[in-house]
Amino acid sequence: MNSDSDLQIAGDILAVQHLLQPAREHPATVAEFAGLARSIAADRARWEHLVEYDATSRWYHRLQTGPGYEVWLLSWVPGQGSGLHGHGASSGVLTVLDGELTERTEGGERSLAAGAQRVFAPGYVHEVVNDSLEPAVSLHVYYPGLTEMPMHTSARCTQESVPV
Ligand SMILES: [Fe+2]
Repeated sequence: MNSDSDLQIAGDILAVQHLLQPAREHPATVAEFAGLARSIAADRARWEHLVEYDATSRWYHRLQTGPGYEVWLLSWVPGQGSGLHGHGASSGVLTVLDGELTERTEGGERSLAAGAQRVFAPGYVHEVVNDSLEPAVSLHVYYPGLTEMPMHTSARCTQESVPV
């Protein structure tokens, strides 16, 4: 018993339905979007057979959609990268499913191994690259769905349609 609190729950909490949050069909918070990504990452049978590796262009597949959000599966052969880009009004969760990716921002560079997650807010700018010698797979949740992906270069901004 926690002697620091006067609050105690007597009886079966599951019998008091009005005190419980109803289970949500779709994620609605940052933690729930990150949790959705982790649950998909753990369910390899759901995505592993879909992955293709394309050395000539970036491969991507929309795995799931829900109210206001999209989930994309991407592959990266060694040397492939996104270029420096933003995500418009979307926030997102990047999760590495297989292999290793490198994320570069103006703040520096970080290595993202399988299982690593990065949560970002609208306005976040980064570059994702497979600097390793093995292919990599990543999962990207966007809320709201990605409608623009401005590319950032030293002199200008352009628009890209590939989710990253
Ligand atoms: Fe991105």
